[in-house]
Amino acid sequence: MKPRVPVITVDGPSGVGKGMVTRWLAQKTHWHRLDSGALYRILALAAVHQKIPLDESARVAALAADLKIVFSGETEADEAIHVNGENWTAEVRVETSGELASQIATSPLVRAALLQRQRDFRTAPGLIADGRDMGTVVFTDADLKIFLDASAEARAERRWRQLSAKGTGVKLADLFAEVRLRDTRDRKRLIAPLAAAPDAVVVDTTQMEPVEVLDVVKALLQKRGLLGGQ
Ligand code: C5P
Repeated sequence: MKPRVPVITVDGPSGVGKGMVTRWLAQKTHWHRLDSGALYRILALAAVHQKIPLDESARVAALAADLKIVFSGETEADEAIHVNGENWTAEVRVETSGELASQIATSPLVRAALLQRQRDFRTAPGLIADGRDMGTVVFTDADLKIFLDASAEARAERRWRQLSAKGTGVKLADLFAEVRLRDTRDRKRLIAPLAAAPDAVVVDTTQMEPVEVLDVVKALLQKRGLLGGQ
């Protein structure tokens, strides 16, 4: 029998800080990391490149099998995403790709096409999985399930600060509208809606600084014996 590979899931709405938490977790545990949102973004972009309408779910889902995706880099700054040998990093990360991803993510066919691909990331010594349905659908037997939440206002403002620091002239009101739209689509969809698993630990980060969030996560790891004495 193959040894069981442990998993920690981190779910939550867009802009809540899952990337920061999962990168930190991957660094602490030396486990692999799955950015499931990137898979949805890549599939949506592949459909756009091939001029396949995003509501033609069967055709979009069929594309998944032909995508050779390679993630590299450990920090946000050195992250690289190659698809079929091409560097798609910048395109995957723009706001509009998240919006396209959330459109195809409402389709059961699309979700089914990406399911095994996500589970394939579960290899020794362990996996940190970042997404919307990691704890509720993809890795229901996870060792620790964390659900990060924060008000839409707080998430839009954090994103606005990040983008403004990079010199991107984006309006807070526009970001807030986008966050609200994506939230509604992710929470209200019929299949795998964004929700905390019944056995997830919910952490509301609205009033928290990043370092405080990491302290809470660290305490959870220690409590579950997942930190190996660090
Ligand atoms: O996390 P990220 O912003 O990259 O995700 C983009 C979109 O992909 C989300 O708004 C959501 O609609 C979809 N998604 C999903 N299930 C996941 C990860 C992402 O439906 N596990």
